[in-house]
Amino acid sequence: MDVKKLVSEMTLEEKASFVSGGDFWHSQGIQRLGIPAVMLTDGPCGLRKQEGETDHLGLNDSVKAISYPTGSCVACSFDRDLIRESGEALGEEAQSEQIGVLLGPAVNIKRSPLCGRNFEYFSEDPYLAGELAAAYINGVQSKNVGTSIKHFACNSQEHRRMSSSSEVDERTLREIYFPAFEKAVKQAQPWTVMCSYNRINGTYSDVNKWMLTDVLRKEWGFEGFVVSDWGAVSDRPTGVAAGMDLEMPGNGSFTTPKVLAALKDGSLSEADLDACCERILTVLYKYLENAKPDTVFDYEGHHEKARQMAAESMVLLKNEDGILPLKAGQKVAFLGRFAETPRFQGGGSSHVNSYKVTSALEAAQGLNVTYAPGYTFEQSEPDQKLIAEAAETAKAADVAVVFVGITENLESEGFDRKDLQLSPGHKELIEAVAAANPNTVVVVQCGGCVEMPWVDRVKGLLYEYLGGEAVGSATVDLLTGKVNPSGKLAETFPLRLEDNPSYLWYQGEGDKTEYREGIFVGYRYYDKVKRDVLFPFGYGLSYTTFAYSDLRLDKAQMKDTETLTVTVKVKNTGSVAGKEIVQLYVVNAKGQVIRPEKELKGFEKVALAPGEEKEVSFTLDKRAFAYYNTQAHDWIAESGEYAVAIGRNSRDLVLCAPVKVESTAVIRRTFDLNSTFGDIMADPKGAAIIGQMMQQMGAGAQAEENTGSAMSAEAMQAMLAYMPLRGLAMMGGDQVKPEMLDQLLAALNG
Ligand code: GLC
Repeated sequence: MDVKKLVSEMTLEEKASFVSGGDFWHSQGIQRLGIPAVMLTDGPCGLRKQEGETDHLGLNDSVKAISYPTGSCVACSFDRDLIRESGEALGEEAQSEQIGVLLGPAVNIKRSPLCGRNFEYFSEDPYLAGELAAAYINGVQSKNVGTSIKHFACNSQEHRRMSSSSEVDERTLREIYFPAFEKAVKQAQPWTVMCSYNRINGTYSDVNKWMLTDVLRKEWGFEGFVVSDWGAVSDRPTGVAAGMDLEMPGNGSFTTPKVLAALKDGSLSEADLDACCERILTVLYKYLENAKPDTVFDYEGHHEKARQMAAESMVLLKNEDGILPLKAGQKVAFLGRFAETPRFQGGGSSHVNSYKVTSALEAAQGLNVTYAPGYTFEQSEPDQKLIAEAAETAKAADVAVVFVGITENLESEGFDRKDLQLSPGHKELIEAVAAANPNTVVVVQCGGCVEMPWVDRVKGLLYEYLGGEAVGSATVDLLTGKVNPSGKLAETFPLRLEDNPSYLWYQGEGDKTEYREGIFVGYRYYDKVKRDVLFPFGYGLSYTTFAYSDLRLDKAQMKDTETLTVTVKVKNTGSVAGKEIVQLYVVNAKGQVIRPEKELKGFEKVALAPGEEKEVSFTLDKRAFAYYNTQAHDWIAESGEYAVAIGRNSRDLVLCAPVKVESTAVIRRTFDLNSTFGDIMADPKGAAIIGQMMQQMGAGAQAEENTGSAMSAEAMQAMLAYMPLRGLAMMGGDQVKPEMLDQLLAALNG
């Protein structure tokens, strides 16, 4: 489609109305020009297409669709291929329902475990979140359906999400909150980006030209269009100028007149409006020209894909005495209503009208299983009768499996969690069952982490997050060993909420929430301060064991213009097949810059038969060693001694090899009278100029006269290092004239 020609044929009114949707879920159609309306709809882990009453909170009904495991669950797979495949399945479903853009993936960083939408998000780590987002986008878009990576940016709390300002310094934005979007744009080109509800440093995302145009488009090369979150438009004409292309849901009766008035008074240029229209049309015709409305997909096959995703994502956190997998013929008690009615998806816009839900009880038909509910979903405190009944059931079994978690009234889009506790009565149920039967396994179903004061009293722990509609089958697959668990945590589990680095400031005051922990999010904080945690980032067990060996770097030192190739071997040293997630961390140099101790810069999931060994390879470039320098406005890999570490998780680095990095960056520093001698002397050019000047002044004799005794060179050096340049006037007596300092600065900054 010749989009520019099409826009040139649109009237001003048509263009002004086109940058707002036609209704709750569709773009604006323009019949006169044959431009159809295209549907955009949720969501990241399953199609939420509404044909009747519409809403953005999952309140009204939607068509039947497969409910896949949520972002928090699948992120633990650390499996790009698996997530790409899920994207392909979602793309097929979207095509069959004539959806042009699927509103996902959701990649906001897990700053606090209290965030109500953490169930939808991938991780506390931007590298992992970006890699998985790119895989998801490539999967969906391979079916010629667009995606909408969201929510750009810093939507890391639900509290006052439509008005709160996330106060974040630029380095933290660049290193923590932007990279998942940046990587997705550079590696997968999402057709759209969804701007968030909140403000960032006081500016609403929809009117944030620096973010939407300067960073997103000019720096990262984003080619698609920006769509608002539903109702996230604060000022439509300013948004058009900022590069916020499509207002959703449609609100043209309110905003179109404002756009027309701005065009008329000259505060908005028609060129900016045309650019928005062109970007929207380019994407819509990408879909329209290859729409496949007669796509038919295999619901059962997609349900099985959801089952595989869940089974390869859920995390085995404890397995004492090899209590798992369950042994054939064992009498097993399932306790807890989640075994019968599982918690498998989140509340809000990602909510799916599931095709079919399997519970663990249904999936365990072939096993020798007894059951007791242990709690109700409505209770606000422990139900002692149900707990006693469950304990009796547990006592009579060989193994007791307790299903607990958080009921959806306690975590959802739209509000934050109040604590990290299980739902009322769940903790008491675990304790009663563990007292009744030492062979107790806990299965947790919830969207985020929880505190576990009971963890030492149970032998097994399987953390499921929200495992999608096939959660029951996946649970039994893992409990019985039909599938060997291979998930690892994509977020750190703190021992208690108060240990989390955002704890003191989370949600902020009024409409201001300061990200004062800066770049020290998740393991970047816990590992730096060596805080004990419940389970570290990247932690997960298997029914087999793995050994690592032969870490090799292709060079021991590198310039920041080169790449480093890393290889390592991993072997299955156990008796059953399994998959291992090999994690590569860069241990940062201890230089001038305050940095996390280590950062994830690579991961690969490897399938290994018993005794099988494979070599895994990684390629690192400057970015793997770099921090964001806000003076240079660029990524700088500070010269120094780094290390490449291979870890089973962020706290268990099994192999480590040094690498020296040499920075070729020239950071132009400008100096003034308050610049210290130390800083000036650290700059080669500055050192030469100052050295020459000190010679001219006969610095040593002068200092002796001033101090009355010969000061050692080291003492002089130290005294000088922190002295500002203006101190020369004091030291140099009448030798130092004002014009001399001006000449010195001119030479330094020349
Ligand atoms: C919601 C969510 C967003 C969703 C949109 C449409 O409020 O924030 O993720 O895609 O509105 O439902």
